[in-house]
Amino acid sequence: MSDTKIVLVTGANKGIGYEIAAGLGALGWSVGVGARDETRRDAAVARLRESGVDAFGVPLDVTDDRSVAAAADLIAERAGRLDALVNNAGITGGRQQQPSSVDPGVIRTVVETNVIGVIRVTNAMLPLLQRSASPRIVNMSSSVGSLTRQSGPGGETSTGPVAVAYAPSKSFLNAVTLQYVRELADTNILINCVCPGFVATDLNGFRGVRTPQEGAATAIRLATLPDEGPTGGFFEDAGVVPW
Ligand SMILES: NC(=O)c1ccc[n+]([C@@H]2O[C@H](COP(=O)([O-])OP(=O)(O)OC[C@H]3O[C@@H](n4cnc5c(N)ncnc54)[C@H](OP(=O)(O)O)[C@@H]3O)[C@@H](O)[C@H]2O)c1
Repeated sequence: MSDTKIVLVTGANKGIGYEIAAGLGALGWSVGVGARDETRRDAAVARLRESGVDAFGVPLDVTDDRSVAAAADLIAERAGRLDALVNNAGITGGRQQQPSSVDPGVIRTVVETNVIGVIRVTNAMLPLLQRSASPRIVNMSSSVGSLTRQSGPGGETSTGPVAVAYAPSKSFLNAVTLQYVRELADTNILINCVCPGFVATDLNGFRGVRTPQEGAATAIRLATLPDEGPTGGFFEDAGVVPW
């Protein structure tokens, strides 16, 4: 097995995921670009390779069992192990998310991607992560999932708009992450949640105020933690995010 570190980033064809792939690639990692659309995936891989990154495409729809199983097979064949998994793929479910009028189908769709998708991918990749000397899992959450911030002062600046599918999906993801941390407490896997800040991407119609590179920085730090690094945390650039 090669000494080169290998990472899978889900939803890596654009936005923050792309920049996490680029950042880890610049550190010499081999980067699996998880993406569901072939054209967008190939374009991202080509762009990364042009900048000198050892990137390869991983067809991956996080909502599809067979796609996720095939992605695990592809990585097993290529590398035999996985050193980091960045569960970055996510959706908002659109703007119609007032609790009193939401279409329950929107909540199902968002949870299927943002929560169950993470569980599906993590479980498929765990056997490969367990073959790494220092495995890391990074779950792309959001401070809008912080119940402390949602219930405190601060308004939309710290909590985002009322969004009964998206914000609770990230609270759910945080809670799920802690269950993995508990189950895997006796292993060397470090598992953390990250908030990238308010980043200009397709997700918010490019209304964010940070660049995707800035949004990728803490995720890259958590994917490359030393063995004595934290686990079971929720981090943003400024430090710890309250649950
Ligand atoms: N932007 C922000 O301000 C912000 C703040 C806090 C947290 N986040 C989180 O950061 C993560 C990345 O978001 P972003 O801002 O970079 O948004 P983005 O540019 O819209 O990127 C989202 C990525 O997820 C992928 N994706 C969505 N559903 C998928 C599925 N079923 N299977 C595989 N890939 C899927 C998208 O692929 P397609 O191109 O195929 O759609 C895309 O690559 C998300 O989890 C988001 O919740 C973002």
